[in-house]
Amino acid sequence: MGRSEKIKKRYDRWSRYYDAFDLGGVNDQKMLAVDLLKPEKNAIIMDIGTGTGAIIPYLAKQISNEGQIIGIDFSKKMVQTANERIIKQKITSKAKAMVADGTKLPFPDGHFDAIIATFAFTSFPEPEKAMKECARVLRPGGRFSILDTGKPTRKKHQLKYRYLKFVMWKAGYTDISLDIPGLVRKAGLKVSKIERFSGSFAYITLAYKI
Ligand SMILES: C[S@@+](CC[C@H](N)C(=O)[O-])C[C@H]1O[C@@H](n2cnc3c(N)ncnc32)[C@H](O)[C@@H]1O
Repeated sequence: MGRSEKIKKRYDRWSRYYDAFDLGGVNDQKMLAVDLLKPEKNAIIMDIGTGTGAIIPYLAKQISNEGQIIGIDFSKKMVQTANERIIKQKITSKAKAMVADGTKLPFPDGHFDAIIATFAFTSFPEPEKAMKECARVLRPGGRFSILDTGKPTRKKHQLKYRYLKFVMWKAGYTDISLDIPGLVRKAGLKVSKIERFSGSFAYITLAYKI
């Protein structure tokens, strides 16, 4: 079994417990990633690597009924959980989750006004391919908000970081030190802002398409 299949199966298994451990919860960092995206009321938005769709209800509050949120994930069970959440929250008129691989997105060029990814790219087996796909399906002028982990800027966090990097890789992540701004630029998008959180390995990269 390849790494991609292994990761997919692992997330299928985790889908039941993901929210219980608050991994899929909505914290301040995820809310800020949505706030910085500043979607238009009628925006068509993709949440790539949506997992249990935890940010979808918060995203739905930012748009009107003319807008639409599509959460995609390659784990069928994660998508099932996300759709259960969407039904429970009564936001089916604005949101849905579907099974799709981030490296082969089933959407035409320029389909989305905005894209969000929270802790997704570091778990993608082929993050570079997925980033290129995001750049393709984002419309010119469209915005992209990416919350993920990265190498700490402070020396005193390096040891903890190296330990976490090993644990997370074992737990199914590709590389928690993935250079997201580098990937964004390589895919032809422009980085407009990098927002760091003190004492956290997480940071937000804001980008747009010219
Ligand atoms: C760490 S979880 C993050 C979930 C959610 N965004 C959150 O913040 O809680 C990463 C998700 O990415 C999904 N994923 C990994 N590789 C993928 C791929 N190639 N295409 C689509 N989804 C993928 C996994 O199935 C998993 O649900």
